[in-house]
Amino acid sequence: MIESMRAFGYTTATALSDIIDNSISARAKSVWLNFHWDGSRSYIAVLDDGCGMEEDVLKNAMRPGSQSRQEERDARDLGRFGLGLKTASFSQCRRLTVASRAKRGKTCTRMWDLGHVKQVDKWQLLKSPASGSEGILSDLDNLSSGTIVLWECLDRIVGDARVNDQAAHMQFLKLVDQVENHLAMVFHRYIEGTKPLLRIYMNDHDEERRVLPWDPFLESHPATTALPVECVRCEEGTVTVATPTLLVLIIGRVFYKEHLSTAAWSGCVVGALAVAALAYGG
Ligand SMILES: Nc1ncnc2c1ncn2[C@@H]1O[C@H](COP(=O)(O)OP(=O)(O)O)[C@@H](O)[C@H]1O
Ligand SMILES: [Mg+2]
Repeated sequence: MIESMRAFGYTTATALSDIIDNSISARAKSVWLNFHWDGSRSYIAVLDDGCGMEEDVLKNAMRPGSQSRQEERDARDLGRFGLGLKTASFSQCRRLTVASRAKRGKTCTRMWDLGHVKQVDKWQLLKSPASGSEGILSDLDNLSSGTIVLWECLDRIVGDARVNDQAAHMQFLKLVDQVENHLAMVFHRYIEGTKPLLRIYMNDHDEERRVLPWDPFLESHPATTALPVECVRCEEGTVTVATPTLLVLIIGRVFYKEHLSTAAWSGCVVGALAVAALAYGG
């Protein structure tokens, strides 16, 4: 079952976005990403200062399908199927450790290690981190509440690369840039402004390493004109769709690849807006 969850179509950037969605739902103000290169022992950690979890909540959160679709959710909750944490993580790694602390609570930890599951042929959710990984989780100690999600055994990212493998190291650093660009785009509404709802830091706690917003729709650009929106009725309510948004998404989906530069993407957006303007020109 867990092995089958590894087949979901995530990239590292989209998988990390799912983890950050959870931080936002937990009302985190800051998220710190730590990409640590150490060959096959490299890891990625996501720390947030959200509300954290009590032990029973954490235990439940580590269960596949932890919350059903029918259960009532907070209006700010971006979750849906109770799967994101597990599917996103296992799409990238074979060992997932989550440590969390709710306000005035004690830190609790749970770990899924697919190597261990295979070895003992049992679904044993472990209560402590892998030996040697305790230090990585200790970043949580500086916060009054929060959660740290740790991905180790990154078989899909670094495989069994040696620590002195320069090409693999460069690839890893390139991935950090790709992730930063992706987060700048998908969370731009959260991270923009002088008092952003969320601050995301890459590999540092320094303001200089804060992810800055990149608005793919150029909404703040002086030449951008807002166009009418369409209301589409469906079973569960009415969905409001902005035409340029739709066009941008379609064009972006066809042409945009991670390696496309910001300037080229901006070109796509301007093109899409021009088409939208023509369509509404009458
Ligand atoms: N960073 C976090 N802070 C607090 N709670 C979290 C965090 N990440 C996950 N959770 C808890 O784990 C549950 C399961 O998360 P997930 O598997 O992503 O499913 P979903 O987001 O659809 O509920 C969440 O509903 C939430 O209760
Ligand atoms: Mg989620």
